[in-house]
Amino acid sequence: AESVKVGLLGLGTVGTGVASIITRHQKELQHQVGCPVEIKKVLVRDKQKLRESLIQDALLTEDPYEVIQDQEIDIIVEVIGGVEQTKDWLLAALNQKKHVVTANKDLMAIHGAQLLKSAVENQCDLYYEASVAGGIPILRSLSDGLSADRIKKIMGIVNGTTNYILTKMSTEGSSYEEVLKQAQDLGFAESDPTSDVEGLDAARKMAILATLGFSAPISLTDVSVEGISSISDADLHYAERLGYTMKLIGIADRTDGKIDVSVRPTLLPNEHPLSSVHNEYNAVYIHGEAVGETMFYGPGAGSLPTATAVVSDLVTVMKNMRLGVNGKSVLAPMNEKTLKEAQE
Ligand code: NAP
Ligand code: HSE
Repeated sequence: AESVKVGLLGLGTVGTGVASIITRHQKELQHQVGCPVEIKKVLVRDKQKLRESLIQDALLTEDPYEVIQDQEIDIIVEVIGGVEQTKDWLLAALNQKKHVVTANKDLMAIHGAQLLKSAVENQCDLYYEASVAGGIPILRSLSDGLSADRIKKIMGIVNGTTNYILTKMSTEGSSYEEVLKQAQDLGFAESDPTSDVEGLDAARKMAILATLGFSAPISLTDVSVEGISSISDADLHYAERLGYTMKLIGIADRTDGKIDVSVRPTLLPNEHPLSSVHNEYNAVYIHGEAVGETMFYGPGAGSLPTATAVVSDLVTVMKNMRLGVNGKSVLAPMNEKTLKEAQE
Protein backbone atom coordinates (compact mmCIF):
# COMPACT_ATOMS: atom_id res chain seq x y z
CA ALA A 1 0.00 0.00 0.00
CA GLU A 2 1.10 3.58 -0.58
CA SER A 3 2.78 5.20 2.43
CA VAL A 4 1.24 7.92 4.58
CA LYS A 5 3.58 10.91 4.37
CA VAL A 6 4.45 12.99 7.39
CA GLY A 7 6.00 16.46 7.56
CA LEU A 8 7.90 16.98 10.79
CA LEU A 9 8.26 20.53 12.14
CA GLY A 10 11.21 20.34 14.56
CA LEU A 11 13.98 17.82 15.16
CA GLY A 12 15.01 18.56 18.74
CA THR A 13 14.38 16.45 21.85
CA VAL A 14 10.85 15.38 20.88
CA GLY A 15 11.32 15.41 17.08
CA THR A 16 14.33 13.08 17.35
CA GLY A 17 12.22 10.72 19.48
CA VAL A 18 9.39 10.83 16.91
CA ALA A 19 11.82 9.96 14.09
CA SER A 20 13.23 7.13 16.20
CA ILE A 21 9.82 5.59 17.01
CA ILE A 22 8.53 5.90 13.42
CA THR A 23 11.70 4.20 12.16
CA ARG A 24 12.15 1.54 14.83
CA HIS A 25 8.46 0.66 15.32
CA GLN A 26 7.62 0.70 11.59
CA LYS A 27 6.42 -2.92 11.67
CA GLU A 28 4.03 -2.30 14.59
CA LEU A 29 2.77 0.93 13.00
CA GLN A 30 2.15 -0.73 9.63
CA HIS A 31 0.35 -3.56 11.34
CA GLN A 32 -2.07 -1.07 12.89
CA VAL A 33 -2.61 1.31 10.00
CA GLY A 34 -2.19 -1.03 7.05
CA CYS A 35 0.50 0.94 5.19
CA PRO A 36 4.03 2.30 5.72
CA VAL A 37 4.57 5.63 7.49
CA GLU A 38 7.19 7.87 5.91
CA ILE A 39 8.75 11.12 7.15
CA LYS A 40 8.99 13.13 3.93
CA LYS A 41 10.39 16.49 5.07
CA VAL A 42 11.70 18.00 8.30
CA LEU A 43 11.79 21.66 9.25
CA VAL A 44 14.73 22.80 11.40
CA ARG A 45 16.17 26.21 12.24
CA ASP A 46 19.74 25.32 11.26
CA LYS A 47 20.45 22.61 8.68
CA GLN A 48 24.18 22.70 9.43
CA LYS A 49 23.75 21.73 13.09
CA LEU A 50 25.32 18.41 14.10
CA ARG A 51 22.52 15.97 14.97
CA GLU A 52 22.10 12.46 16.23
CA SER A 53 18.90 11.44 14.53
CA LEU A 54 17.71 8.80 12.09
CA ILE A 55 16.76 11.49 9.55
CA GLN A 56 18.86 11.88 6.38
CA ASP A 57 20.24 15.40 5.83
CA ALA A 58 18.52 15.52 2.43
CA LEU A 59 15.09 15.66 4.16
CA LEU A 60 15.95 18.79 6.19
CA THR A 61 14.71 22.23 5.22
CA GLU A 62 14.74 25.68 6.83
CA ASP A 63 11.63 26.79 4.90
CA PRO A 64 8.36 25.94 6.74
CA TYR A 65 6.28 26.27 3.56
CA GLU A 66 8.33 23.57 1.84
CA VAL A 67 6.78 21.21 4.39
CA ILE A 68 3.34 22.78 4.85
CA GLN A 69 2.67 23.16 1.11
CA ASP A 70 4.08 19.81 0.00
CA GLN A 71 1.14 18.25 -1.85
CA GLU A 72 2.19 14.72 -0.93
CA ILE A 73 2.30 15.31 2.83
CA ASP A 74 -0.84 14.12 4.65
CA ILE A 75 0.01 14.91 8.27
CA ILE A 76 2.03 17.67 9.94
CA VAL A 77 3.68 16.84 13.26
CA GLU A 78 4.57 20.04 15.12
CA VAL A 79 7.34 19.69 17.72
CA ILE A 80 8.97 23.10 17.37
CA GLY A 81 7.34 25.07 20.17
CA GLY A 82 6.49 28.77 20.10
CA VAL A 83 3.09 30.39 19.82
CA GLU A 84 2.17 33.04 17.20
CA GLN A 85 4.32 31.99 14.26
CA THR A 86 3.61 28.32 14.92
CA LYS A 87 -0.14 29.04 15.06
CA ASP A 88 0.07 30.66 11.61
CA TRP A 89 1.96 27.66 10.21
CA LEU A 90 -0.56 25.20 11.64
CA LEU A 91 -3.54 27.22 10.38
CA ALA A 92 -1.88 27.26 6.95
CA ALA A 93 -1.38 23.48 7.17
CA LEU A 94 -5.04 22.91 8.13
CA ASN A 95 -6.16 25.15 5.27
CA GLN A 96 -4.07 22.89 3.00
CA LYS A 97 -6.22 19.99 4.37
CA LYS A 98 -3.35 18.48 6.33
CA HIS A 99 -4.02 16.78 9.65
CA VAL A 100 -2.02 18.09 12.60
CA VAL A 101 -0.45 16.46 15.65
CA THR A 102 1.23 18.75 18.16
CA ALA A 103 3.03 18.56 21.52
CA ASN A 104 2.68 22.29 22.04
CA LYS A 105 0.79 23.20 25.24
CA ASP A 106 1.72 26.88 25.02
CA LEU A 107 -0.07 27.04 21.68
CA MET A 108 -3.04 24.84 22.64
CA ALA A 109 -3.64 26.67 25.94
CA ILE A 110 -3.79 30.01 24.12
CA HIS A 111 -5.11 29.29 20.61
CA GLY A 112 -6.54 25.77 21.01
CA ALA A 113 -10.15 26.79 20.29
CA GLN A 114 -9.22 28.64 17.09
CA LEU A 115 -7.08 25.76 15.82
CA LEU A 116 -9.73 23.15 16.66
CA LYS A 117 -12.38 25.21 14.91
CA SER A 118 -10.20 25.42 11.80
CA ALA A 119 -9.58 21.65 11.97
CA VAL A 120 -13.32 20.95 12.06
CA GLU A 121 -14.00 23.38 9.20
CA ASN A 122 -11.29 21.75 7.09
CA GLN A 123 -12.41 18.23 8.05
CA CYS A 124 -8.97 17.62 9.48
CA ASP A 125 -7.76 16.01 12.70
CA LEU A 126 -5.90 17.95 15.38
CA TYR A 127 -4.54 15.89 18.26
CA TYR A 128 -2.35 17.12 21.11
CA GLU A 129 -1.96 14.29 23.64
CA ALA A 130 1.76 14.99 24.19
CA SER A 131 1.03 18.54 25.33
CA VAL A 132 0.11 17.43 28.84
CA ALA A 133 2.03 15.00 31.05
CA GLY A 134 4.35 13.60 28.32
CA GLY A 135 3.90 9.83 28.16
CA ILE A 136 0.68 9.62 30.23
CA PRO A 137 -2.38 9.35 27.94
CA ILE A 138 -4.31 11.75 30.14
CA LEU A 139 -6.24 13.80 27.55
CA ARG A 140 -7.83 10.71 26.03
CA SER A 141 -8.54 9.32 29.49
CA LEU A 142 -10.38 12.51 30.42
CA SER A 143 -12.28 12.96 27.18
CA ASP A 144 -12.96 9.28 26.35
CA GLY A 145 -12.45 6.99 29.34
CA LEU A 146 -14.14 9.29 31.86
CA SER A 147 -16.53 11.04 29.48
CA ALA A 148 -19.62 9.66 31.22
CA ASP A 149 -18.68 11.14 34.57
CA ARG A 150 -19.01 14.57 36.15
CA ILE A 151 -15.44 15.58 37.04
CA LYS A 152 -15.16 17.44 40.33
CA LYS A 153 -11.42 17.81 40.78
CA ILE A 154 -8.17 17.35 38.84
CA MET A 155 -4.97 17.58 40.84
CA GLY A 156 -1.42 16.67 40.05
CA ILE A 157 2.21 17.15 39.23
CA VAL A 158 2.25 18.18 35.58
CA ASN A 159 5.72 19.66 35.13
CA GLY A 160 8.67 17.27 34.93
CA THR A 161 11.44 19.87 35.19
CA THR A 162 10.30 21.35 38.51
CA ASN A 163 9.61 17.90 39.94
CA TYR A 164 13.12 16.85 38.90
CA ILE A 165 14.58 19.97 40.52
CA LEU A 166 12.65 19.58 43.79
CA THR A 167 13.47 15.84 43.96
CA LYS A 168 17.22 16.31 43.43
CA MET A 169 17.43 19.32 45.76
CA SER A 170 15.74 17.38 48.60
CA THR A 171 17.26 13.93 48.10
CA GLU A 172 20.79 14.78 46.92
CA GLY A 173 21.22 18.30 48.31
CA SER A 174 22.04 19.56 44.78
CA SER A 175 21.87 23.32 44.19
CA TYR A 176 18.93 24.81 42.27
CA GLU A 177 21.19 26.08 39.43
CA GLU A 178 23.08 22.78 39.10
CA VAL A 179 19.96 20.67 38.91
CA LEU A 180 18.14 23.05 36.52
CA LYS A 181 21.14 22.67 34.19
CA GLN A 182 20.79 18.85 34.46
CA ALA A 183 17.06 19.08 33.58
CA GLN A 184 17.97 21.17 30.52
CA ASP A 185 20.71 18.74 29.45
CA LEU A 186 18.27 15.83 29.77
CA GLY A 187 15.80 17.63 27.45
CA PHE A 188 13.05 18.05 30.08
CA ALA A 189 13.08 21.85 30.28
CA GLU A 190 11.47 24.25 27.80
CA SER A 191 13.82 26.27 25.54
CA ASP A 192 13.22 29.11 28.00
CA PRO A 193 13.07 27.28 31.36
CA THR A 194 11.46 30.32 33.02
CA SER A 195 8.09 28.91 32.00
CA ASP A 196 8.90 25.69 33.88
CA VAL A 197 10.24 27.20 37.10
CA GLU A 198 7.71 30.04 37.29
CA GLY A 199 4.81 27.59 36.95
CA LEU A 200 3.57 28.83 33.57
CA ASP A 201 4.10 25.50 31.80
CA ALA A 202 2.08 23.75 34.52
CA ALA A 203 -0.58 26.48 34.31
CA ARG A 204 -0.95 25.91 30.55
CA LYS A 205 -1.36 22.18 31.14
CA MET A 206 -3.91 22.75 33.92
CA ALA A 207 -5.89 25.06 31.60
CA ILE A 208 -6.01 22.27 28.98
CA LEU A 209 -6.95 19.62 31.58
CA ALA A 210 -9.65 21.81 33.13
CA THR A 211 -11.07 22.69 29.68
CA LEU A 212 -11.44 19.01 28.82
CA GLY A 213 -12.39 17.79 32.30
CA PHE A 214 -15.06 20.38 32.98
CA SER A 215 -16.16 20.89 29.33
CA ALA A 216 -15.66 24.61 29.81
CA PRO A 217 -13.25 26.95 28.03
CA ILE A 218 -10.66 27.72 30.72
CA SER A 219 -8.04 30.20 29.61
CA LEU A 220 -4.60 30.84 31.02
CA THR A 221 -5.77 34.04 32.69
CA ASP A 222 -8.18 31.94 34.78
CA VAL A 223 -5.24 30.11 36.41
CA SER A 224 -3.50 31.58 39.45
CA VAL A 225 0.21 30.74 39.30
CA GLU A 226 3.21 30.62 41.60
CA GLY A 227 6.43 28.81 40.65
CA ILE A 228 9.34 27.28 42.56
CA SER A 229 12.11 29.81 41.92
CA SER A 230 11.84 31.25 45.44
CA ILE A 231 11.99 27.85 47.21
CA SER A 232 15.26 27.55 49.11
CA ASP A 233 17.30 24.57 50.33
CA ALA A 234 16.26 25.59 53.86
CA ASP A 235 12.52 25.38 52.97
CA LEU A 236 13.01 21.83 51.69
CA HIS A 237 15.13 20.86 54.69
CA TYR A 238 12.52 22.06 57.24
CA ALA A 239 9.69 20.45 55.27
CA GLU A 240 11.55 17.14 55.40
CA ARG A 241 12.18 17.43 59.16
CA LEU A 242 8.44 17.95 59.72
CA GLY A 243 7.47 14.91 57.58
CA TYR A 244 6.42 16.84 54.47
CA THR A 245 7.45 16.89 50.80
CA MET A 246 7.39 20.04 48.66
CA LYS A 247 5.77 19.61 45.22
CA LEU A 248 4.57 21.99 42.50
CA ILE A 249 0.88 21.08 42.47
CA GLY A 250 -1.78 22.03 39.94
CA ILE A 251 -5.39 21.95 41.13
CA ALA A 252 -8.58 22.41 39.11
CA ASP A 253 -11.66 22.25 41.25
CA ARG A 254 -15.35 22.62 40.45
CA THR A 255 -17.64 23.34 43.36
CA ASP A 256 -21.28 24.43 42.89
CA GLY A 257 -20.54 25.28 39.26
CA LYS A 258 -17.61 27.55 40.15
CA ILE A 259 -14.24 26.53 38.70
CA ASP A 260 -10.92 27.37 40.41
CA VAL A 261 -7.60 26.54 38.80
CA SER A 262 -4.22 27.13 40.42
CA VAL A 263 -0.57 26.07 40.37
CA ARG A 264 1.59 26.54 43.46
CA PRO A 265 4.31 24.93 45.57
CA THR A 266 2.55 22.81 48.16
CA LEU A 267 3.66 20.89 51.25
CA LEU A 268 2.27 17.36 51.17
CA PRO A 269 2.48 14.85 54.02
CA ASN A 270 5.06 12.18 53.13
CA GLU A 271 2.32 9.52 53.05
CA HIS A 272 0.38 11.40 50.32
CA PRO A 273 0.54 9.43 47.01
CA LEU A 274 1.87 12.49 45.13
CA SER A 275 4.82 12.75 47.57
CA SER A 276 6.36 9.62 46.08
CA VAL A 277 6.26 10.91 42.48
CA HIS A 278 9.92 11.67 41.82
CA ASN A 279 12.25 13.14 39.21
CA GLU A 280 10.64 14.00 35.84
CA TYR A 281 7.64 11.78 36.57
CA ASN A 282 4.12 13.26 36.58
CA ALA A 283 0.93 12.08 38.20
CA VAL A 284 -2.63 13.27 37.72
CA TYR A 285 -5.37 12.47 40.21
CA ILE A 286 -8.94 12.79 38.97
CA HIS A 287 -12.00 12.75 41.19
CA GLY A 288 -15.23 12.03 39.33
CA GLU A 289 -18.63 12.05 40.96
CA ALA A 290 -19.41 8.50 39.83
CA VAL A 291 -16.00 6.86 39.38
CA GLY A 292 -14.51 8.21 42.62
CA GLU A 293 -10.72 8.60 42.67
CA THR A 294 -8.41 7.60 39.81
CA MET A 295 -4.71 8.32 39.46
CA PHE A 296 -2.50 8.30 36.37
CA TYR A 297 1.29 8.10 36.67
CA GLY A 298 4.21 8.11 34.24
CA PRO A 299 7.11 10.02 32.67
CA GLY A 300 6.06 13.64 32.16
CA ALA A 301 8.91 14.80 29.92
CA GLY A 302 11.78 13.52 27.79
CA SER A 303 12.34 12.41 24.22
CA LEU A 304 10.87 8.91 23.87
CA PRO A 305 8.00 9.13 26.40
CA THR A 306 6.74 12.34 24.77
CA ALA A 307 7.32 10.95 21.27
CA THR A 308 5.22 7.90 22.19
CA ALA A 309 2.24 10.20 22.74
CA VAL A 310 2.95 12.07 19.48
CA VAL A 311 3.23 8.91 17.37
CA SER A 312 0.15 7.40 19.03
CA ASP A 313 -1.78 10.50 17.91
CA LEU A 314 -0.34 9.90 14.45
CA VAL A 315 -1.71 6.36 14.52
CA THR A 316 -5.16 7.71 15.47
CA VAL A 317 -5.07 10.14 12.53
CA MET A 318 -4.08 7.33 10.16
CA LYS A 319 -6.84 5.06 11.46
CA ASN A 320 -9.30 7.94 10.96
CA MET A 321 -7.97 8.38 7.40
CA ARG A 322 -8.67 4.72 6.70
CA LEU A 323 -12.21 5.09 8.06
CA GLY A 324 -12.76 8.48 6.38
CA VAL A 325 -13.74 10.15 9.67
CA ASN A 326 -11.06 12.84 10.05
CA GLY A 327 -12.17 16.01 11.80
CA LYS A 328 -15.27 14.33 13.17
CA SER A 329 -14.12 13.70 16.74
CA VAL A 330 -12.35 16.57 18.44
CA LEU A 331 -10.64 16.47 21.79
CA ALA A 332 -12.42 19.58 23.00
CA PRO A 333 -15.67 20.84 24.40
CA MET A 334 -16.82 22.17 21.03
CA ASN A 335 -20.08 23.61 22.27
CA GLU A 336 -21.63 26.71 20.75
CA LYS A 337 -19.99 29.03 23.27
CA THR A 338 -16.50 27.73 22.49
CA LEU A 339 -17.12 28.01 18.77
CA LYS A 340 -18.43 31.55 19.14
CA GLU A 341 -15.40 32.57 21.24
CA ALA A 342 -13.09 31.04 18.66
CA GLN A 343 -14.71 33.18 15.97
CA GLU A 344 -14.18 36.41 17.92
P1 NAP B 1 13.84 21.53 21.19
O1 NAP B 1 14.68 20.39 21.62
O2 NAP B 1 14.28 22.90 21.49
O3 NAP B 1 13.62 21.37 19.60
C1 NAP B 1 12.99 22.34 18.82
C2 NAP B 1 13.19 22.00 17.35
O4 NAP B 1 12.47 22.93 16.56
C3 NAP B 1 14.65 22.07 16.88
O5 NAP B 1 14.90 21.05 15.95
C4 NAP B 1 14.76 23.44 16.21
O6 NAP B 1 15.68 23.47 15.11
C5 NAP B 1 13.36 23.59 15.64
N1 NAP B 1 12.95 24.99 15.58
C6 NAP B 1 12.69 25.81 16.63
N2 NAP B 1 12.30 27.02 16.19
C7 NAP B 1 12.31 26.97 14.84
C8 NAP B 1 12.02 27.90 13.80
N3 NAP B 1 11.63 29.15 14.08
N4 NAP B 1 12.13 27.49 12.53
C9 NAP B 1 12.52 26.23 12.24
N5 NAP B 1 12.82 25.30 13.17
C10 NAP B 1 12.72 25.67 14.45
O7 NAP B 1 12.36 21.39 21.79
P2 NAP B 1 11.64 20.08 22.34
O8 NAP B 1 12.04 19.86 23.76
O9 NAP B 1 11.77 18.98 21.37
O10 NAP B 1 10.12 20.59 22.43
C11 NAP B 1 9.35 20.75 21.26
C12 NAP B 1 7.88 20.95 21.65
O11 NAP B 1 7.40 19.84 22.40
C13 NAP B 1 7.62 22.19 22.52
O12 NAP B 1 6.35 22.69 22.19
C14 NAP B 1 7.59 21.61 23.93
O13 NAP B 1 6.84 22.39 24.84
C15 NAP B 1 6.90 20.29 23.67
N6 NAP B 1 7.17 19.23 24.66
C16 NAP B 1 8.43 18.95 25.03
C17 NAP B 1 8.67 17.93 25.94
C18 NAP B 1 10.05 17.56 26.38
O14 NAP B 1 10.18 16.70 27.27
N7 NAP B 1 11.10 18.14 25.82
C19 NAP B 1 7.58 17.19 26.46
C20 NAP B 1 6.28 17.52 26.04
C21 NAP B 1 6.08 18.53 25.13
P3 NAP B 1 17.26 23.23 15.30
O15 NAP B 1 17.38 21.77 15.64
O16 NAP B 1 17.86 23.57 14.01
O17 NAP B 1 17.66 24.14 16.44
N1 HSE C 1 9.16 21.28 30.15
C1 HSE C 1 8.11 20.35 30.29
C2 HSE C 1 8.20 19.67 31.64
C3 HSE C 1 8.16 19.32 29.19
O1 HSE C 1 9.26 19.76 32.25
O2 HSE C 1 7.22 19.08 32.10
C4 HSE C 1 6.98 18.39 29.17
O3 HSE C 1 5.80 19.07 28.84
